[in-house]
Amino acid sequence: MLDTPLVLAPEIARRRTFAIISHPDAGKTTLTEKFLLYGGAIQMAGQVRAKGEARRTRSDFMQMEKDRGISVSASAMSFDFATGEDSYRFNLVDTPGHSDFSEDTYRTLTAVDAAVMVIDGAKGVESQTQKLFEVCRLRDLPILTFCNKMDRESRDTFEIIDEIQENLAIDVTPASWPIGRGRDFIGCYDILRDELQLMDRADRNTVASAVKIKGLDDPKLAELVPADLLETFLEEIEMARELMPPLNAQALLEGTMTPIWFGSAINSFGVQELMDGIATYGPEPQPQRADPRAISPDEKKVAGFVFKVQANMDPKHRDRVAFVRLASGHFKRGMKLTHVRSKKPMAISNPVLFLASDRELAEEAWAGDIIGIPNHGQLRIGDTLTEGEALRVAGIPSFAPELLQTCRAGDPMKAKHLEKALMQFAEEGAAKVFKPTFGSGFIVGVVGALQFEVLASRIEMEYGLPVRFEASQFTSARWVQGQKPAVDAFVAANKQHIATDNDGDTVFLTRLQWDIDRVGRDYPDVSLTGTKEMM
Ligand code: G4P
Repeated sequence: MLDTPLVLAPEIARRRTFAIISHPDAGKTTLTEKFLLYGGAIQMAGQVRAKGEARRTRSDFMQMEKDRGISVSASAMSFDFATGEDSYRFNLVDTPGHSDFSEDTYRTLTAVDAAVMVIDGAKGVESQTQKLFEVCRLRDLPILTFCNKMDRESRDTFEIIDEIQENLAIDVTPASWPIGRGRDFIGCYDILRDELQLMDRADRNTVASAVKIKGLDDPKLAELVPADLLETFLEEIEMARELMPPLNAQALLEGTMTPIWFGSAINSFGVQELMDGIATYGPEPQPQRADPRAISPDEKKVAGFVFKVQANMDPKHRDRVAFVRLASGHFKRGMKLTHVRSKKPMAISNPVLFLASDRELAEEAWAGDIIGIPNHGQLRIGDTLTEGEALRVAGIPSFAPELLQTCRAGDPMKAKHLEKALMQFAEEGAAKVFKPTFGSGFIVGVVGALQFEVLASRIEMEYGLPVRFEASQFTSARWVQGQKPAVDAFVAANKQHIATDNDGDTVFLTRLQWDIDRVGRDYPDVSLTGTKEMM
């Protein structure tokens, strides 16, 4: 974070690039849909889901997403949001909510400037919220919190706030305060704007009307809020003001304070206030860590990096799309950028912008935006594109997989096809693929068991290739690092444990921690690592 705010071009300053993190079922999909509704990107709530249904019927893979109630593939959506006189461009990057996809999530979070944390008002901070929060914490990402489902029986407001403060070790400041609970919930008091918002349960697609209030003594409050609810509310808000710090924009930007809004996504309630909050307090595009120097969004020249690769997005065209977060400059379609890893120029002639209901050609884009670049495999996760300078975006890690299984094609004649399919998924970051020095077949490594099932069903669906995953004799993989002579000597003496990964890097496979410790003692010039930076 810089000490002095940057002066950004207005087009950059109006961008807000963020992700939503939540435990499954807290309401992320519903909230996303309402964002799009207010952003004017869809006309009626239900379209995102309806489109999802149509897609799902096309494939078993999607069927699986549906059955298990998880979202496996991350994507990006851009839409405009107007508040007062100002118009903002929101870039919402979707994160898979399931813990088995945490590596993908981690990388997605390298591409955003802030996260919206959705929690269920009855359940508070759940396991997956906690995990995702910790990933955000690693990057000091600013977090805005939305406490959802307030139309249902929910926990005490102080209890919810306490739980966030204690479990996540972050200061919480209420941006709004709920009035009544469960069936008696009538709306919220907007603390930031001194407004009363009353919820309309009848029409879920309209924006709640706000009543401007002149402080808490305004007689309008007593006219609009039933006496018993008003009494409790006034007591609570007085206590809240005594006990909780007011919103501090700097602390929010540094990730040490989160404002919390209360609402009900399904009733479209509290959503607009949250969006106003993202616009007003959410950060503008931030500088990007890179070697040998950081990239500032206000630089004239374009730079960007690939944080996700998705193959076969459209089963009709076997395309592969690299999702690129622009870190600086003003990008125009047709530009020639340098692919820093290969030092080769690339003409970006068909960049795609992901609008809510469709994709369209991106004629231009600015720092903060996410564009999709269709390609045939040149672009990999972690790659940097610039206008010539040899900059490499840092901090996109690859983690050693926690589960290993061998993978074989049902038909042994199809081994080459299988290799191609596995490499494709490895490039997407969906799995690590290891080719052992000895023996046939491949060893596939993932972070969570569910990924094996997803892979098997995708290989069958996208490549027409039934495959079997079976237990492997190995359970751990570590990258081998060190000077070439030391690594060569180590490899020669441990051939039965050596494999190469999908990037051609040397890997040590084992089933025993003891083996890893032994290498540490016997080969002091070689190190075995559980992460490598993708560059
Ligand atoms: P997710 O993406 O985080 O997994 O959650 P999603 O939006 O799918 O919401 C999970 C369930 O919670 C859905 O119900 C949704 O309708 C409901 N929900 C979301 N927001 C609210 C809210 O503000 N109040 C209440 N009462 N419920 C809410 P479902 O029965 O699983 O799905 P559906 O049949 O409604 O589609």
